[in-house]
Amino acid sequence: MTKVDVLLGLQWGDEGKGKIVDVLTPQYDIIARFQGGPNAGHTLNFEGKKIVLHTIPSGIFRENSINVIGNGVIIDPYILINTEISEIKDITDVKSKLYISEKAHLILPTHRMLDYVNENLLGKNKIGSTLKGIGPTYTDKVNRSGVRVGDILLPNFKEKYNILRDSHLKQIAAKGFDYNTIKIDGKNLAEYEQAWFAAVEELKSYKICATEYLINRALADGKTLLAEGAQGSLLDVEFGSYPFVTSSNTITAGVCSGLGIAPTKIGKVYGLFKAYCTRVGEGPFPTELFDATGDLLRQNGGEFGSTTGRPRRCGWLDLPFLRYACMLDGVTELIMMKADVLDNMEELKVCTAYNYDGKIIEDIPFDPKANLVPQYQTMKGWKEFSGNEIPSQMKDYIAFVEQYVGLKVKIVSVGPDRNQNIML
Ligand code: GDP
Ligand code: IMO
Ligand code: MG
Repeated sequence: MTKVDVLLGLQWGDEGKGKIVDVLTPQYDIIARFQGGPNAGHTLNFEGKKIVLHTIPSGIFRENSINVIGNGVIIDPYILINTEISEIKDITDVKSKLYISEKAHLILPTHRMLDYVNENLLGKNKIGSTLKGIGPTYTDKVNRSGVRVGDILLPNFKEKYNILRDSHLKQIAAKGFDYNTIKIDGKNLAEYEQAWFAAVEELKSYKICATEYLINRALADGKTLLAEGAQGSLLDVEFGSYPFVTSSNTITAGVCSGLGIAPTKIGKVYGLFKAYCTRVGEGPFPTELFDATGDLLRQNGGEFGSTTGRPRRCGWLDLPFLRYACMLDGVTELIMMKADVLDNMEELKVCTAYNYDGKIIEDIPFDPKANLVPQYQTMKGWKEFSGNEIPSQMKDYIAFVEQYVGLKVKIVSVGPDRNQNIML
């Protein structure tokens, strides 16, 4: 029986998970997503191509890989078929490599409408959702009213769909909105529904099964599996800065419920962090920079959302948050991403604690609105370099992080391409 390795983001998402899963895939037989949905945008760069995946695991481009969309993931058939698969079907055989859990919940068109309505009602307190219907779909799952992938193969699918859709339309009206005025990806409800049902028909030709059996039998046969996280640990519904979080368990614990794997079967946990921080959407971000340095990070790092195109908020590396995520995830090795974005900066700052109402703290406080003033360690920057010899200033930067967090950095990523990595 082999153990399941896990790869996840330790910050607020977009750490570069897609890139590193693609790099590590040759070592694994199976790559599996365990939570999230099309709110994710995982970018892969290889052979001059740039591809963004939302629901499909980032192992899909490697020969002979098996890719699983687990039960903990939520799926919008329209996005999966029309925007994801249609873009990659000419370069990889998705149908033969992809397995979809029959227990994964479906994002209905009206889930997306509800997401829009809920954000609108929050006004200035909005979450900054990607508006893909994530919150409403997970709400219905927990409320036991959701519709699942397996349902599309049953005779009463349309009936189930209608019951849920009608309840959504009632909710939308009760919240003071006219659904006729809400567009989803530029379409009204009837138009989106038509495209959505066409995608459902297409989805039936994919391999839909009880992926928990597939996975556990494969592990018993000695096959290897990498679980690919979406979002980041600081967006976890339990431990993130609630309510500014996503609606799933983004931490390692989510792998067990999201794939049907027992906790005793978890092996290595790769934790990814950017050499600085970004966040997209609302919520606390103590080290956020509102000055020219923040703009420089955004420009050099190309920090614009892979899913929504929104500019990402940028700031210095936050070590108390990083250590918190490592604790929750049981990280065994760190991977530092986008180190090249910090090239040629005179000085770098790293947050080691906060001043909270006159007290110096390192633990994250309960109140998401708490005014945390970062306490910085200033470090020397490094010059742009080529080859695999890391400059001494970068070594010092890494050593400082390792010392603070108590874990080793195993890979440094120095560019978006599959091949731009330094193994330590
Ligand atoms: P994910 O959601 O964690 O998969 O990350 P995203 O794909 O949303 O965002 C990461 C972005 O950084 C993408 O545009 C990647 O192509 C890019 N990227 C990944 N690693 C590196 C790196 O080491 N250096 C640079 N400059 N870009 C990187
Ligand atoms: P990947 O997998 C960055 C953020 C949204 C918002 C909050 C809630 O590419 O790292 P939701 O749509 O889930 O209701 O939004 O979470 N968010 C992400 N931020 N990367 C992501 O995914 C994200 N998925 C959701 O911006 O603040
Ligand atoms: Mg992303």
